[in-house]
Amino acid sequence: MKILVASDHGGFELKSKIVNLLKNKKIQVEDLGSDSAESVDYPDYAIKVAERISKGEADAGILVCGTGIGMCIAANKFKGVRAAVVSESYSARMAKEHNNANVLCIGGRVLDPGSPARVPAESAEDVVTAWLDAKFEGGRHDRRLDKIRAIEKTNFK
Ligand code: RB5
Repeated sequence: MKILVASDHGGFELKSKIVNLLKNKKIQVEDLGSDSAESVDYPDYAIKVAERISKGEADAGILVCGTGIGMCIAANKFKGVRAAVVSESYSARMAKEHNNANVLCIGGRVLDPGSPARVPAESAEDVVTAWLDAKFEGGRHDRRLDKIRAIEKTNFK
């Protein structure tokens, strides 16, 4: 499995931890930046990951910004991308089992222990691991994804 990872400045520190987590799990990971805590625009990094997921060049992606929200909005503009923003393990697992999310979006300012906004329930590593370990259930959930694919067909020519 190959996972593409990217962040803006709001997710830069947490991204390094996620890259380490994936390497420790022996998952092939490609870090597409950013490479410092200098301010950048999150859509530029969402595009780097989502474009390649859309083309089938990697299995999945993880995007980190301050909240995960901007990354998620941008990534979902790409055909075939199902990005989900989560901040706890239950939603992370459901994002895979029911929604077959192929891009996980998380917030550095939400999940990183140093962040003043963080609700200290679970670590980012727990949340990412819940998504990695879950499997898409298919069946009725795939019927629902078919309806989402139909929206893409109509709206993205
Ligand atoms: C950057 O300050 C912040 O807006 C960005 O990281 C992200 O949270 C956007 O959704």
